[in-house]
Amino acid sequence: MTERQVVFVGAGPGDPDLITVKGKMALERADVVVYAGSLVNRELLADLKPDAQSHDSASLTLDEAVTIMVAAVDQGKKIVRLHTGDPSLYGAIQEQIEALAERDIKTIVIPGVTAAFAAAASLGQELTLPGVSQTVILTRVEGRTPVPEKEQLSKIAALGATTCLYLSVGMMEKVVSELLAGGVFTPMTPVAVVSRASWADELIVEGTLADIAARVEAAGLTRQALIIVGEALAARVQGVGEKSKLYDAGFAHGFRNRR
Ligand SMILES: C[S@@+](CC[C@H](N)C(=O)[O-])C[C@H]1O[C@@H](n2cnc3c(N)ncnc32)[C@H](O)[C@@H]1O
Repeated sequence: MTERQVVFVGAGPGDPDLITVKGKMALERADVVVYAGSLVNRELLADLKPDAQSHDSASLTLDEAVTIMVAAVDQGKKIVRLHTGDPSLYGAIQEQIEALAERDIKTIVIPGVTAAFAAAASLGQELTLPGVSQTVILTRVEGRTPVPEKEQLSKIAALGATTCLYLSVGMMEKVVSELLAGGVFTPMTPVAVVSRASWADELIVEGTLADIAARVEAAGLTRQALIIVGEALAARVQGVGEKSKLYDAGFAHGFRNRR
């Protein structure tokens, strides 16, 4: 008997090869796939079973998406809920998990490569540089979805950590003014905006907090882009400065003696 379950799969940022092996296997076994059509690469649907059904959730309400999944579970089918990037970030999965649990359906989540890590890869950029930043913040500026007062971007920016912003490129002026209001970032702080990281039409716009809003506007970027801010970005221009302990010949650890 098929288990009463829905498998949530992280599709990755766009490049269909960036889904996990486990996620791809779940897709290949699925009878029904409900996918976030606004961002998921449809090439991932090419390997579904010939008789598998797929539903784009972009135009569905929560109730409609849940109804499709519940009906498929009741018919003994294998269901995949395919989310862009990693499902745990801005994926609205908790409300789906809850609604499914209310109908006695369990969920399994297979993680995916989130946009911030795809953007860092495209830049060839380490986000955690010794002596510069050892913290990465994944956040967004407040838009139609409220952000709790304690996490307003100006407060987050006061840490000066490497900061990755989702869902914010359409509000660049606000992003810049809140980042500066934190009092640690300056107009010279480097910023990279990666649009459609890992897709064929990926575009990278780089600048500083002083000019990034104008550069993004000139490039016509209004959505589906990831913003990375912080001094770590300067390393590609200025060099890394302090080297890591991990590969330091004078630093012993569990897998290597001091040389
Ligand atoms: C609803 S959120 C989903 C995030 C997704 N769960 C993840 O882990 O990447 C959508 C936002 O993610 C970012 N995003 C998603 N895919 C992207 C990509 N390929 N390149 C750049 N940003 C992307 C953009 O900021 C976009 O507005």
